[in-house]
Amino acid sequence: MDKDLLSHSLSLVDLPDDGLTVRFYDILFERYPAVQPMFTRGTRLQASMLRTAVIAVVDHLDDPEWLTTTLGAMGRRHAALGVTEPMYGAVAECMIAAMSEIGGQDWSPEMTDAWTEALTAVASLMLAGYPEEEEGAA
Ligand code: HEM
Repeated sequence: MDKDLLSHSLSLVDLPDDGLTVRFYDILFERYPAVQPMFTRGTRLQASMLRTAVIAVVDHLDDPEWLTTTLGAMGRRHAALGVTEPMYGAVAECMIAAMSEIGGQDWSPEMTDAWTEALTAVASLMLAGYPEEEEGAA
């Protein structure tokens, strides 16, 4: 995981007032309208929480224990919200689309690769926190 590239590229696109994550939700709801009703809190608050979470992950890339514990617990909460595995792919795609749009010419294919790898790892750690499927559950 290229920590320097991740933090440098994040600082390139991390706009004031949660602009990156606000744009992310616009793209997500445009491309995947079916997930929009899952969000009941309102996009502004959600965008702020997502930004905080992404920054915390980048700050802890050298701390596997923190990542496993924090993302596992976050995954457990997402399981309860009904978030399924394919939705993580949609979220990664739309986050990188927002980053690349905001970064413009300064956004590089290497940055896309670094974020694809990082968001795939985040998704695996969140999914690892999902409870075991109960017998007879659909
Ligand atoms: C990169 C992976 C993700 C991160 C870092 C993330 C982060 C967060 C955070 C920080 C919260 C606030 C509540 C909490 O801490 O549990 C949250 C809530 C939520 N997330 Fe995620 N999330 C991710 C992936 C997803 C995916 C794939 C979906 C499905 C579309 C999703 C849907 C939701 C919903 C529905 C809520 C609750 C919103 C509400 O109450 O209005 N998240 N997420």
